[in-house]
Amino acid sequence: MSFRAYVLKKDGDQFSAGIATLTDDDLMPGEVTIAVEWSGVNYKDGLACQRESRVVRKYPMIPGVDLAGTVISSTDSRFSAGQGVVVIGYDVGVSHFGGFSEVARIPADWVAALPEGLSAKEAMALGTAGFTAAMSVEALERHGVTPERGPVIVTGATGGVGSTAVSMLAQRGYHVVASTGKADEQAFLRELGAAEVISREEVLAESNRPIEAERWAGAVDPVGGAATAYLARTMKYGGAIALSGLTGGQSINTTVYPFILRGVNLLGIESVFYPIEERRRLWARLASDLKPKGLLDTIAVERGLDGVGDAVETILRGKVRGRVLINCRA
Ligand SMILES: NC(=O)c1ccc[n+]([C@@H]2O[C@H](COP(=O)([O-])OP(=O)(O)OC[C@H]3O[C@@H](n4cnc5c(N)ncnc54)[C@H](OP(=O)(O)O)[C@@H]3O)[C@@H](O)[C@H]2O)c1
Repeated sequence: MSFRAYVLKKDGDQFSAGIATLTDDDLMPGEVTIAVEWSGVNYKDGLACQRESRVVRKYPMIPGVDLAGTVISSTDSRFSAGQGVVVIGYDVGVSHFGGFSEVARIPADWVAALPEGLSAKEAMALGTAGFTAAMSVEALERHGVTPERGPVIVTGATGGVGSTAVSMLAQRGYHVVASTGKADEQAFLRELGAAEVISREEVLAESNRPIEAERWAGAVDPVGGAATAYLARTMKYGGAIALSGLTGGQSINTTVYPFILRGVNLLGIESVFYPIEERRRLWARLASDLKPKGLLDTIAVERGLDGVGDAVETILRGKVRGRVLINCRA
């Protein structure tokens, strides 16, 4: 069987990225062979596809940390031919061939069955980004954040994590404040359910005051850096920040005061090695009460495998709105 894939190759100074034809003999070991229908582009895929990447651990590599499709064959009894499945994270697209491919072979322990109510296309419109948003919302609610406690803020709101988080939180009855660097995307954010939109500058502003007026009951923060410091200073008593990303920076310049005077909680969100049983449970929620409205109509745009190169460059420049879906059959 031969199939097409987007392949990264590196040999000394020579680097190339583009579509190649492979056969199943080229695939890496795994129990479940999958006809990939959809993948999606995450910020990590942008990092993986760079010439100097600290994300990819071996070459050649098929990037794409997410994939969904139909099982072709499985030597593990938990999966059978014809079944819909979804895979995100682990070593996929990093040191194990990933989702920008018509076919993938994946260890069974990394595979989740698609839950009823979620198509392969919808699962990839969510992808790691939407899954991370769901983990963030769950983490906030486990720490007592409710709509009654006040507004919640989402940073990087037009991005993958941000846009799906805005939609999930709005559906759950929160007053959502979206922070964005894209002044022209107010209408998009309001369509997702944001009650207010504020500028990225406001959230990234530095301050030498350790705490400021209490504004937020909770925050979904895929931006990090100065944004996280701002959120800590402005969080209400007992509020929580679900921190997942670093598009705004890796270092957080804050003091202990928000934590020891206001009991602010900083919650780390990590999706890549999130245990498989918990993943299966959360995918079921993403098929039901956490499924964002407008997922395919508003949040996602479609590209073919030949659109991967442009999409990874765009996401690294912070220019993506919502999610870019990759139709691996186009
Ligand atoms: N912890 C985990 O398991 C996990 C999982 C998924 C993602 N992540 C991380 O979360 C982050 C977001 O991922 P994503 O897939 O949602 O990426 P994305 O689609 O590119 O969204 C990131 C958003 O951040 C904002 N942004 C971009 N550059 C910025 C800058 N210099 N300063 C401040 N804001 C900036 C932009 O939103 P606006 O234009 O609206 O401001 C952008 O759309 C990445 O760092 C990613 O690595 C972590």
